[in-house]
Order: sequence, then C-alpha cells, then structure tokens
Amino acid sequence: MVDAKVNKKPLNWAVLGFQYQRTDYRFRAVHENGVWGEGELITDENIPIHEGAPSIHYAQQCFEGMKAQTSADGRVLLFRPDLNSERMDLAAKRLLMPQVPENLFLEAVEETVRANYAWIPPFGSGASLYIRPMLIGVGENLGLNPAQKFEFRVFVCPVGPYYKEAGLAVISLAVSEMDRAAPNGTGSFKVGANYAGGLLATRAAQVLGANEALYLDSMEGRYIDEAGSANIIVAMKDGSFASPKSDAILPSITRRSIMILAKEELGLKAEDRPIDLRAEFSQFQEMAACGTAAVLSPVGKVWFDAGWHNVYQDGDSIGPIMQELYDLLVGIQNGELEDRFSWLHEVSR
Ligand SMILES: Cc1ncc(COP(=O)(O)O)c(C=O)c1O
Repeated sequence: MVDAKVNKKPLNWAVLGFQYQRTDYRFRAVHENGVWGEGELITDENIPIHEGAPSIHYAQQCFEGMKAQTSADGRVLLFRPDLNSERMDLAAKRLLMPQVPENLFLEAVEETVRANYAWIPPFGSGASLYIRPMLIGVGENLGLNPAQKFEFRVFVCPVGPYYKEAGLAVISLAVSEMDRAAPNGTGSFKVGANYAGGLLATRAAQVLGANEALYLDSMEGRYIDEAGSANIIVAMKDGSFASPKSDAILPSITRRSIMILAKEELGLKAEDRPIDLRAEFSQFQEMAACGTAAVLSPVGKVWFDAGWHNVYQDGDSIGPIMQELYDLLVGIQNGELEDRFSWLHEVSR
C-alpha cells in the first residue's frame, strides 16, 4: 500500500483526456562506462542532453507505456509490469542499448508511482495513471554509432480515455496507404522511430474522419498488422476469435491478455493467425483495437478501397463479445474481479 493519507490533487478526473500533465516526481538513472548508477527521484521534467546525442539524430531510444489503477479498497495496481520490462529489454538489445535490469525497471516504476500518489486517479473516476518509462542515448556523438551514455527515465501523468471523451466508445479506422514497419525491421519493438513515420498516416486517417490508421502488412498489403497505437482483435461469425500474427507488430500486453480471457473465460477458440482484411471482412462479427492507452475500443467501421465498411450493425454500436471482454479486462485491472491469472502487481508502501 502507498501512503493513502496524502491528499489527492484537485483535478476533475472525469474530464481528463490523454494529455501530458506535469506531476511532481520522475525517476532518473544514468548508464555510463558500462554500469548503471543508482538512480533517484527528481523534480525537473527537462532532460538536458548533448546536441550530438544519438537519440535525437538517429532515434536510438525506446520506451514503454503502462498504467496504475486504484482499487476500491485503495490498493494501487500495476498490470503485468514484468512484460513491459521484458519488452523494453528486447528493444534495448535491438538498438544496441544497455538492458535496464528488471529490478531497476520495477523499482523505478514503483518509486515514481508512490512519489506521485496525489496524482493517481481514485477508484471509479474512469481515469488512471499512465506510466512512461524511457531509455535514451544521451552521450556526445556524431557518427552513426551507439551512444556512450544512456538515461533511463520514468514519468507519470493522470489520463482519461485515449480516443474519445467517454470510457468504452466505438472508434473507426482507415486503412493506410503508408507502411508502418517492414518484416525483419523494428515494428515489433517499442522504439520511437516507428512512431514518427506514423504521424502522417494518422493525419491522413483523421482527414477521412477515422480515429486512427490501420496498417496492413507491407509485403502484400493484405493482412492486418495493427493500428497506429493499438493491436487488433476480431470475433469471427463462426465463433472463433483472432488476432493478427505478424512479426512487424508490437506484441501488445493487452492483446495477449485479452486472447487468454477470450479462451479461458469466454470459451472461444482464440488464435493468432494472419487475417486477410478484404477476403475475411464479411466474416467479421466484431472488431476492436486494444492497448494500454486504447484499453479495448470496439471498431465500428473501417475505411478501405475508397469507402466505409461497417463491422458491427450500424458502425456505431458495441457488440456483446467486446463488451464482455472489456468488462473482464477492466474488472481485473482495477481489482474488482478475481485476479485469476496473477496479472496484478501491487505497488508497495
Ligand atoms: C503500435 C502499438 N501497438 C500496440 C500497442 C499496445 O500495446 P500494449 O497493450 O502493450 O500497451 C501500443 C501501445 O500501447 C502501440 O504503440
């Protein structure tokens, strides 16, 4: 348990969107001469780095995204943070950066959350505390070489829903003409380089009236990869449940958890497999985007081949399968439902 005697900030939690909000403390540790320093909590949200730092020229950086929630009995809960640590480790290896040891990662996250207790949205507010761990190459450099010095940071922001004002809201996606990632590229790693290229694709999707871009595989432009900041799940009319199998997508922790819930709690035949958008679309019963920020957002309609195609009913309704999975996922995350799979990690005092 964290110190529940601290007064909460006087925020209107219910109207929070997904924006940066400065909180009081952040964690900082530096890796130099091959070793990690101890790390500490600091108050300055700025990061002074060298103008030659490889993170700002060559995107030698990676990050994570996770959330803390308050349970009805006041516990502060993280959801599968060990998987965020594991994923950051994979990204660090891919970009020739030092691994952030799991104990440093988890302690930094816990310390930052604890120190910002006043900013953690209360139970039932619909908001949560977004946690952003990041690892960046900061040392002096010019040529295309790995940095000599790295900084690991964790900051937190209270946030509300990612896509819309309300909690569970139907979204729309537009298939992008741009590719997000190549096979054997960096698509499966949470690295900044994947996201800058997606800004224009998101803008193009928004111009069409969609919330986000939907990427197809870059080899054939047939199979669903993922959305700009979320993985995809599909309930098929034959009763099966699928999520795209692709080496170019981020291995979403939310999606991996939902696949387990679909199988174990709903008894569905759930599998990761290639999903051919055009060939299989008529067999889609319900579809959703999922991720830490998106939680589970039902997809009502998809733009492709110059037109909108409704997935479920009028394109603006939530289907029963996605509603049930949403309730299960959120119920586990905020401690209301039994943590059958031991996914929760309580932030200690
Ligand atoms: C590109 C992309 N895909 C999927 C996800 C979802 O991953 P997770 O469920 O681990 O948050 C994210 C992050 O939220 C993302 O940025």
